[in-house]
Amino acid sequence: MTPVPDRADDCVPASVQLEDPVTSKTAPVSFANDIRPLFRPIDLAHMTPLEVRLGDYDYMSDATDDHRNARAVGAFLSGAREPRMPVGGPFWTAAQLALYQRWMTDGFQP
Ligand code: HEM
Repeated sequence: MTPVPDRADDCVPASVQLEDPVTSKTAPVSFANDIRPLFRPIDLAHMTPLEVRLGDYDYMSDATDDHRNARAVGAFLSGAREPRMPVGGPFWTAAQLALYQRWMTDGFQP
């Protein structure tokens, strides 16, 4: 006998279930809504004294040198530049890194 699914989700095709609710967003990625909450208080506490103002939209969206600040942060988050951040982890997931990339390609929206 076929078991009856106990959740509506179980009836959804696997391809849809695997779609990440974060990366499947279609609205432009927002710094305040989508990116800023990914930084932990400890990240801000360690980086602000080093002049890397992760929580500061003006710093993060500064267009100087092809948005050097945002691109440097992205590179340290992904491990393209080392040491990968945050030091000791937990490192951002592939979905979170993709969201950050989309924030940049969407035009560094507030
Ligand atoms: C331009 C980007 C960044 C630069 C140049 C940078 C640089 C550094 C440096 C030089 C240190 C001290 C190294 C050490 O303690 O071994 C550090 C520590 C740290 N960074 Fe970053 N960082 C960047 C971005 C980030 C981001 C995006 C995060 C978090 C999402 C982060 C989280 C941390 C934390 C939590 C520490 C302290 C680790 C500890 O002492 O236990 N940093 N960073």
